[in-house]
Amino acid sequence: MIAGVGAAVPAGILTNADLEKTLDTSDAWIVERTGIRQRHIAAPTETLTSYSLVAAQQAMARAGVTAKDLDGIIFATVTPDRRLPSAACDLQAALGADRAWAFDVVAACPGWLFGISVAEGLMRAALGDTILVVGAEKLSSITDYTDRGTAILFGDGAGAAVLKRATDDGRAILSTYMGADGNLASLLHIPGGGSAEPLTEALVHEKRHLIQMAGREVFKAAVLAMSRSTDAAIDRAGITADDIDIMIPHQANLRIIEATAKHAEISMNKVMVNVDRYGNTSSASIPLAIAQAEAEGRLKPGMMTMLVSFGAGFTWASVVVRW
Ligand code: COA
Repeated sequence: MIAGVGAAVPAGILTNADLEKTLDTSDAWIVERTGIRQRHIAAPTETLTSYSLVAAQQAMARAGVTAKDLDGIIFATVTPDRRLPSAACDLQAALGADRAWAFDVVAACPGWLFGISVAEGLMRAALGDTILVVGAEKLSSITDYTDRGTAILFGDGAGAAVLKRATDDGRAILSTYMGADGNLASLLHIPGGGSAEPLTEALVHEKRHLIQMAGREVFKAAVLAMSRSTDAAIDRAGITADDIDIMIPHQANLRIIEATAKHAEISMNKVMVNVDRYGNTSSASIPLAIAQAEAEGRLKPGMMTMLVSFGAGFTWASVVVRW
């Protein structure tokens, strides 16, 4: 079961009006095409570990566990503070979780759901009773702020959940589903900076260390993958769309969320949306939305909850939880 969720964002805010000053874009265009009004952006000195630690400590407090109780840490991110070692090891040290194993999951936006699925499987295999799953990004570090097709979309943030064994009250993860299609990788990727094309001055000059995206193609693939994932979630949990009390989708674009809800025949008043406040925070987006839904009283224990996401890879995933 998901015993506690926490979230944190850097204090700095980049509004559509700010972007209007540096890009050929407008608040009206961004709101109409994406639903985004602002995003939180980390200061250069703010590390991923610093705000992930806040989210993790909040999740642990809500779950009633301490760092010493953690058997493992799974950290979903594409923007670790450094290439080696993992973000999970940095967080393990910051928390003082000295009993916990720790590793990263690289699955882009659905990374946190991949992490939840992996944690659930490890628990079933008796490899942990209390596992921290973090989804956090500093996407501002890989965004090209001269490209209006991507600069408007991304934000920074962190979310975390503590998973524990299911209890007798029915609160449990009911189904998980993951998928991928690497054939479409080049539609949304960072071409350089890996071992095939190590960082050089020329590569940085050509901005090959930053996100490149074919927006329209990604949009279509997103709607398809999100729809497929909602079908799989409902199927695997042995429920119907009517049984869903709340859907908390990846917050990439309001139009993608609306198309997914329409496909799943779930009314928009059962769908959590906060893309307006945070933009697309990749692996942090679902836990950030969960934390807000709980704070607003929209998500309560016992609710049938569908989580669904899509991202670079392409990758996609869904999880059904009796909250
Ligand atoms: N401001 C103003 N105009 C912009 C713009 C911006 N920020 N970005 C693109 N445009 C322009 C384009 O240049 C194009 O102009 P043209 O017709 O003169 O060539 C026009 O708007 C339409 O571009 P298009 O890319 O077709 O727009 P769109 O409706 O598909 O919206 C996105 C662009 C990026 C908002 C949209 O494709 C999208 O959200 N895609 C999915 C992205 C995503 O979710 N990625 C992460 C997945 S996890």
